Formats: sequence, C-alpha cells, structure tokens
Amino acid sequence: MLGFFRKKDRLDTRCSVKIAPWNTVLDLKSGSNLLDAAIAQGLPVPYNCRVGACKTCQIKVLEGQAKSLIEREYVFNREEIAAGMYLACQTRVESDLLIDWPQLLETTSTQKQSAVLQHIEAMTPRIYRIQLRLSKAASWTAGQFAQILPQGLQLEPRCYSMVFGAQDQSLISFDITLYPGGAVSSWLADTANLGKSVQIELPFGEFGQHLSSEAAAKSPLLCIAGGSGVGSISGIIASHAQRQRQPNDEVAPVVLVVGARQRTDIYGLQELRDLAQQIRLPLYIDVVLDREPVGSDWQGKRGYVAQHLQQILADAASYDQQFQQTQDAWKVLLCGPPPMVDSSIDSLKQCGLKAQQMAFDKYEQSAAVV
Ligand SMILES: Cc1cc2nc3c(=O)[nH]c(=O)nc-3n(C[C@H](O)[C@H](O)[C@H](O)COP(=O)(O)OP(=O)(O)OC[C@H]3O[C@@H](n4cnc5c(N)ncnc54)[C@H](O)[C@@H]3O)c2cc1C
Ligand code: FES
Repeated sequence: MLGFFRKKDRLDTRCSVKIAPWNTVLDLKSGSNLLDAAIAQGLPVPYNCRVGACKTCQIKVLEGQAKSLIEREYVFNREEIAAGMYLACQTRVESDLLIDWPQLLETTSTQKQSAVLQHIEAMTPRIYRIQLRLSKAASWTAGQFAQILPQGLQLEPRCYSMVFGAQDQSLISFDITLYPGGAVSSWLADTANLGKSVQIELPFGEFGQHLSSEAAAKSPLLCIAGGSGVGSISGIIASHAQRQRQPNDEVAPVVLVVGARQRTDIYGLQELRDLAQQIRLPLYIDVVLDREPVGSDWQGKRGYVAQHLQQILADAASYDQQFQQTQDAWKVLLCGPPPMVDSSIDSLKQCGLKAQQMAFDKYEQSAAVV
C-alpha cells in the first residue's frame, strides 16, 4: 500500500481523500461525511437526495477503507460491492482514501423544466394528490422521484415520488403529506396556488428497479408503505404485475402492509384492489393503525407495522402457496417515513430476510433544511 494510505492513530484525526479523475486531494477531519466534505470544498460533485435514495453520488473506493452508514447490500449488487462501490452521502471517512467518482464523467439524464399546478385532491385530511402539467412530456418509471420547487420560493427543492396514473406523459401526480409549517408541502396543497408554476427536475432514483429482471418479476412481493408512500408503492405493484401479463402467466402474489395513523388516513386501497382484480393479481392488504382512538370499532391491527411483521409473514404463507416457498425468493419494498422503514427492516431481519432482498425509499426531510 502507498505511504499516502497511512493508518490513523487516535491523535491523528485528519484524513486525505484523493479523487482519481482530477487528482484533487480533500483534507478532512476523520469521521467526516464524504459528500458534505466535497461540497464544502466547492467540488462540482453530482448528488441529489443526500439520503441514499437516488444513487447519484456513487463512488468507487480504489484504496483504503471507507465506512458505509447503510448496508451496501440495499443499493449495490454483490459485484458492485466487491468492486468497492459506495454512496458518498452515506460514507464516513475514517482513513486515507483513493476514490474514483465515476458519475463525474457522465452527463445526467434528468430534465429540468417548469410545470403548472393543475389539480389538487384531498385523499385524507393530511395527504393531497396533486397533478402538474409539464411543459415537456417526460418519461419515468414507478418508484422514481422528482425535485420540485414552487416559483418564487427561495429554498432548496424538495423530493416527491411520482404516482402512477395518467397515460398522458405531460401530466404527473404526487401524493403530498402536509407537514405543519412545511414550506413546500403546504404550498402544493393550497388551492390558491392552482395555475401557478413550479420548477421540476426528474426522474431520480432507482427504487423498485431491482424488480425489472426476469427472475425478480416472478418473485412474491412484500410491500410496506407508510403515509403518502402508498401512492408510489401502488405504482410499483401495478407495473410489477403488468410486466408478468403474458397469456397464461401466473402472476406472483403481493402482500401490501400499510401503516397509517387513523382510519381516516387510509387512502388509495380500493383503487389498488380494483386494479388487482382487473389484472388478476393476487393482492393481500393488511393495515396497521398507530393512533386510532381506543374504543373505535376498528377490527384490524393496531400499533406499529414492525410489531406485526412476524405475524404478517406467517399469514402470507397461508394466503398463497407461493409465499410458502423459501423466503429467499421474496422481494421486499419499503417506502414512507424513515422510522417506519428502519424499524420494519430490523424486524424483517429478525425474521430471517436479507438486506439483498430489500429496497427502500425513505421520505426524509430535504437535506438542505436538516
Ligand atoms: C427520496 C424522497 C422522496 C420523497 N417523497 C415524498 C412523497 O412522495 N410525498 C411526501 O409527502 N414527501 C416526500 N418526501 C419528503 C419531502 O421531500 C419533504 O421533506 C416534505 O414534503 C417536507 O417539505 P416541506 O417543505 O413541506 O417542509 P419543511 O419546510 O422542510 O419543514 C417543515 C417542518 O416539517 C418537518 N419535516 C419536514 N420534512 C419532514 C419529513 N420528511 N419527515 C418528518 N418531518 C418533516 C420539519 O422538521 C419542519 O418542522 C420525500 C423525500 C425524499 C428524500
Ligand atoms: S445523493 Fe447520495 S444517494 Fe442520493
């Protein structure tokens, strides 16, 4: 190993990161986040979500040891991990590194344009489905997200996941949870802004893309959605089922677990049931409510999703024979509030599922306002 990659002792708290395409060296404090450090030093590095969702910031570690803040199996396949792929936004620097920043040399395929807020519909008291008319038609796949910023707001854009729907590629919908005091969510949900313009860039992210291989398309699917994550997950379920619609194809079953606060927060499920019936998709839905008033006549599950997953997995095997086969064949998708996603992943791991089977999209707060 080169002298450059010296091992750190406890008193030596600075690290050097050499970026191969430029021969640039970052000098940073041990424990620093790699993407934050690169941005702070003014390097034009590519990134979007800063939460491990879009994979725009992927790097290759050529020399030295990096510390990943997430299990890399969620985002990279075995070969990519062996090749040293990491996400810079999820990497802590604890020793000297030599890295390659492959995306620096590629042009991004996203499109920036303006759009008009055309329609707003309250799906629940806290979730609004909004529709934008794009100035140019755009293509994207279920599970991807866009960055949106209303014109006139001096803020960082916020990320929102597309909801599958219109055939017209210039119409695009999103399910928006209204956050108290939320600058962008409250703007988008306000009917006074109908007809006004937003800046939008899309598509970002790879959530749901690991289902596109032929083998994965035949896998039983466990989907876990919280809050407005139902919109994105419904799109993934629909396209997953449609991918298998050859004549005589047996469609792999789907279990959808929805986490919501109260019964009034449940939405979009009848639409999904109708679609499942139409395309003969075996779909089993379970809803878990964590704030339903005590004493209401709710007969379903109460508490947090993670508390029920062991039972839900056991029940799945009784719903459908395909869920009886080895759990290794399942694919798992999780989408929505970070605490629900994190606790569900922990619970699934305790049930024997592996990181490689799972993909998630956490609806984190935009990094710029953290
Ligand atoms: C990849 C990705 C996809 C996303 N997809 C969606 C989506 O489809 N639908 C959707 O509604 N949201 C989604 N989000 C979250 C969204 O980007 C914004 O964070 C959210 O709308 C709040 O923005 P705001 O401007 O309204 O609130 P801000 O003005 O940024 O914050 C207002 C208040 O709300 C709190 N807050 C803000 N964001 C969150 C959050 N995510 N969780 C908990 N508290 C928060 C803040 O702490 C603050 O107190 C996604 C995020 C990511 C990273
Ligand atoms: S910026 Fe790192 S994954 Fe999106």
